[in-house]
Amino acid sequence: MTTRYRVEYALKAHRRDALIEFIKGLLAVPFVIHSQPTATADDISLPEMAAHAHRRYTEIMKDVEVLINDHIQCQKQGKIERSKLRFLVPSVGTFFTPLALVDAFVAQDKRRAISSRRFVAPSFNDIRLILNTAQIMSLSRDGPLKLVTFDGDVTLYDDGQSLTPSNPVINQILSLLLRNVCVGIVTAAGYTDGARYQERLYGLLDAIADPRNGLTRNQQMNLIVLGGESSYLYKSSPGSEYGLEKIPRSEWQLPEMQEWEEKDIQLLLDIAETSLRESVDTMRLKALVVRKERAVGIVPADGHKFEREQLEEAVLVAQKTLDLSDVGREIPFCAFNGGNDVFVDIGDKRLGVLCCRRFFGGVEGGETLHIGDQFLSAGHNDFKARLAATCVWVSNPAETVKCLEELTDLLDPQVQN
Ligand code: IMP
Ligand code: MG
Repeated sequence: MTTRYRVEYALKAHRRDALIEFIKGLLAVPFVIHSQPTATADDISLPEMAAHAHRRYTEIMKDVEVLINDHIQCQKQGKIERSKLRFLVPSVGTFFTPLALVDAFVAQDKRRAISSRRFVAPSFNDIRLILNTAQIMSLSRDGPLKLVTFDGDVTLYDDGQSLTPSNPVINQILSLLLRNVCVGIVTAAGYTDGARYQERLYGLLDAIADPRNGLTRNQQMNLIVLGGESSYLYKSSPGSEYGLEKIPRSEWQLPEMQEWEEKDIQLLLDIAETSLRESVDTMRLKALVVRKERAVGIVPADGHKFEREQLEEAVLVAQKTLDLSDVGREIPFCAFNGGNDVFVDIGDKRLGVLCCRRFFGGVEGGETLHIGDQFLSAGHNDFKARLAATCVWVSNPAETVKCLEELTDLLDPQVQN
């Protein structure tokens, strides 16, 4: 490794997704070989170029599909060190299902004309969307899909906003509930009473309660909110105050969470608070420190906007400080960049999604889909959900709606059966 390479790696590894980069690298070769940057617009060889590129890209997708199947076999046999994919992409995690990459590539190529491009190689976003479609196709074929969990900010609604009645995601969530698919909203937003969740989710909660939407009483109650990553559970309950019923921790916590001692939780939050205060001082941030029962964060003082670099620095300092502490190795926590705030929460979305799986009667990871926007390895809070479910990575709420349309279209034959 050259020094420059080492420096780049040390500083940027957490900002890349290794599997996506690996696939992007594989596709770059046929792109370079087949693309014709010097051809003019009316060149008759262009359709031929697109056909060649399509064939080669498809072959690569098939090869990656096979690598993933081999990885799944190694997982099953408890011999993950034998996985070739693990050798090629050391940080690759668990796969709960195979991925229909060839079919997904064909579908996304139709939409995005990836093979016809002469100057722009298959990109991070092309591959992210192909992986999303592949996951959705595999779940709808192999499922059965029993549970979909959603992140809140940037996935269901814009950052810091609420789920209002005009949001098109409402119809999609209703159609999941009508198919008896359970729904969890696994958000970092941590509130100790239902009023704040009602304020942020009222469009959806009102639609669930509305008899014109035709949900049975059971279907109405098949939606839960897991707040503060994995700290508070509210069940949809039309007619109750705020349309939500708070469920005591003793009824839904995982055994590993019951072992956490309150003094350790507070110690972890003390260390996180000290680290965040230090970041506020050293970077002279116009920020307020917010300490909650199970979280501590910095939020901007009156309408101020933090720079991306400031947010990332504060997250990484807190993460490292806690990684080096004894209590940080005992209790799971999540330090993340919320777009214009930084929070350290007790627990994480692995636990949040596991709690949802357990609450709905023991749903498997391969029967669960988590949809979120934050999947980078440091400073992003949906990343840990990969350990508990299959995942789809969106970049805005409109993409969430598109993915759900794709999913419900594919699930339709199951409804008719
Ligand atoms: P998510 O995208 O749904 O996980 O929500 C993340 C956002 O929730 C953060 O960026 C904060 O603005 C907000 N938030 C409110 N309370 C908390 C908390 O206790 N912990 C973390 N985030 C919080
Ligand atoms: Mg989010």
